Amino acid sequence: MSKKLADKTALITGSSRGIGRAVALAFAKKGAALIGVHYATNPNAAKATVQKIEALGVRAVAVKADLRQGKEAADSPWAQFGNAARAQTGAASLDILVNNAGIAPAVSLEQTSEAVFDDVMTIKYKTPFFLIQAVADHVCDNGGIINVSTGFTRIAAPTHPAYAASKGALETLTLALAPDFAARGITVNAVMPGVTETDMNAEWLASPDARAGAEALSVFSRVGRADDIADVVAFLASNDARWTTGQIIDATDGARI
Ligand SMILES: NC(=O)c1ccc[n+]([C@@H]2O[C@H](COP(=O)([O-])OP(=O)(O)OC[C@H]3O[C@@H](n4cnc5c(N)ncnc54)[C@H](OP(=O)(O)O)[C@@H]3O)[C@@H](O)[C@H]2O)c1
Repeated sequence: MSKKLADKTALITGSSRGIGRAVALAFAKKGAALIGVHYATNPNAAKATVQKIEALGVRAVAVKADLRQGKEAADSPWAQFGNAARAQTGAASLDILVNNAGIAPAVSLEQTSEAVFDDVMTIKYKTPFFLIQAVADHVCDNGGIINVSTGFTRIAAPTHPAYAASKGALETLTLALAPDFAARGITVNAVMPGVTETDMNAEWLASPDARAGAEALSVFSRVGRADDIADVVAFLASNDARWTTGQIIDATDGARI
């Protein structure tokens, strides 16, 4: 088994379930030293992810924060993870941050309330911005920051305009931050998943018509699995991707290419 993340510490937001959990398990299989499993409301899912990581012989800590709270919520996961890192590795440092947590309400322009707009923009853009700010001085040389975006920044999504725009902001942030972090060999990249089988769209994909439509988007004629995305994130987190920064990596299964 490849140990390309040996001795690395990682904090992954929204890793209690879905793509984040798959990323955490991919990092554990690649030998990470400590993984922060962030969650909001689902402690049992976070605990199950922690146990799966520990079963692979890797240390893990659950970190709770509701990212709807903006900067305050950004400071909290770093404080919790930093304390665990200090206790377990002797230093409050971090090699890899993955901004993954999210919600994706399917609401058109007309249906979008200010409250939904604020939640989406805060969870997907504002809080990741301030989480990166909170960890910036603690990220080790040659580390990595990976932001999870969406194929809806490339493919028009009138069903999700606020969500798509929040991810567009996250992608622009990715580009804007890459030069300064490069001074320490830290890469900053984003990954665009396509339709991926997780709780986020389980209800929608339960409809045979919706599933067939999602499969037809892909040149591989199937819906993605969380590990399809996690392996791309794990590559970007590894030294193999040291020469790639400021990039938005398309992992949409070739949707509408
Ligand atoms: N699935 C797809 O088809 C797809 C496609 C493109 C992009 N994406 C992106 O991929 C990322 C992961 O999505 P997923 O499909 O894995 O979602 P998911 O299965 O629904 O999991 C969402 C994760 O985000 C956390 N979360 C939700 N609301 C939060 C809040 N207010 N504060 C903090 N954490 C919160 C959840 O924590 P709890 O367990 O505590 O609720 C959970 O860990 C998202 O950024 C999403 O936009 C997904």
